[in-house]
Amino acid sequence: PDILLPKQARYQTTLHAEDGNITDFLNLCQCRCDKILFFTTNILFMSAHIIDGKQIANQLLEEIKTNIIQRLQAGKRAPCLAVILLGDDPASAIYVRNKRLACEKTGIVSVAHNLPASTTQEALFALIRQLNADDHTDGILVQSPLPDHIDETEILALIDPAKDVDGFHPYNIGRLAVRQPLLRSCTPYGVIKMLQASGIALKGLDAVVVGVSNHVGRPMGLELLLAGCTVTSCHRHTKDLAAHIGRADLIVAAAGKAGLIKGEWIKSGAIVVDIGINRLPDGKITGDVDFAVASQRASHITPVPGGVGPMTVATLMENTLKALELREQA
Ligand code: GUN
Repeated sequence: PDILLPKQARYQTTLHAEDGNITDFLNLCQCRCDKILFFTTNILFMSAHIIDGKQIANQLLEEIKTNIIQRLQAGKRAPCLAVILLGDDPASAIYVRNKRLACEKTGIVSVAHNLPASTTQEALFALIRQLNADDHTDGILVQSPLPDHIDETEILALIDPAKDVDGFHPYNIGRLAVRQPLLRSCTPYGVIKMLQASGIALKGLDAVVVGVSNHVGRPMGLELLLAGCTVTSCHRHTKDLAAHIGRADLIVAAAGKAGLIKGEWIKSGAIVVDIGINRLPDGKITGDVDFAVASQRASHITPVPGGVGPMTVATLMENTLKALELREQA
């Protein structure tokens, strides 16, 4: 407050560092001023609220657990998720393990189908047909990536849409596109739930999604459209990515390229969601966004790891419970 300022500083100019780079700002101060007063570093460096995806996901898992306990008390059965894993890719093994642990936490029965990488497409078809027909299997998940000799599109299309808990089937993507979502793609749906849990109103925001994959970027755009955002999808042919990022209220990065989104591009006060999971040469996991700089400009930002990842697993559990409930109602 003015009352705390020394007399000499009454004819002060208030400068803001938000719109420029800090070095330029300090140089400008030194050219023009006899004295530079720093109130607190918060005036110069804005720090984003770090969205704790792990905590929001745990809360969702608790709600699912409570719902399943109530089902059991009412004499109904627990949901059952079949997880198919081909080969021994270490990253896939970790993802599948996390899904099994979440099943254990919530009371969902998980059935693992760990098959050799050499499994034929016909054998995989036969297993999916068997699981489609099994009344006690509510969700079927085929962990990707699949070995090269398997046609992933054909496999995903064979899964009964009512058991497609990944939300990858063209039927479920189509339901989302026509504003009648049923089983929603886990990561994009997890992002929406995470933003809602953080008290962020999405209606009317200018949202930019970077990445247009079938599993993440495209359904993410549809989710944001459903939530009332004005959506721009950026991809490898986008002419000026920095310009799109610079005017976005909400940025969702899903390109899978470490450091693609520079912190300086981000508008002051924007919301940043980083879906990228990239392994650096030193083994560290990082997102698509330059977190160090972005977190000084954004109002909210998700970390990697500990942001969107846990939400994907939690929404998979929600979808598995929902798949059972929908089939019970059918
Ligand atoms: N591989 C990496 N993430 C996923 C996912 O969410 N679902 C499936 N099926 N495979 C994955």
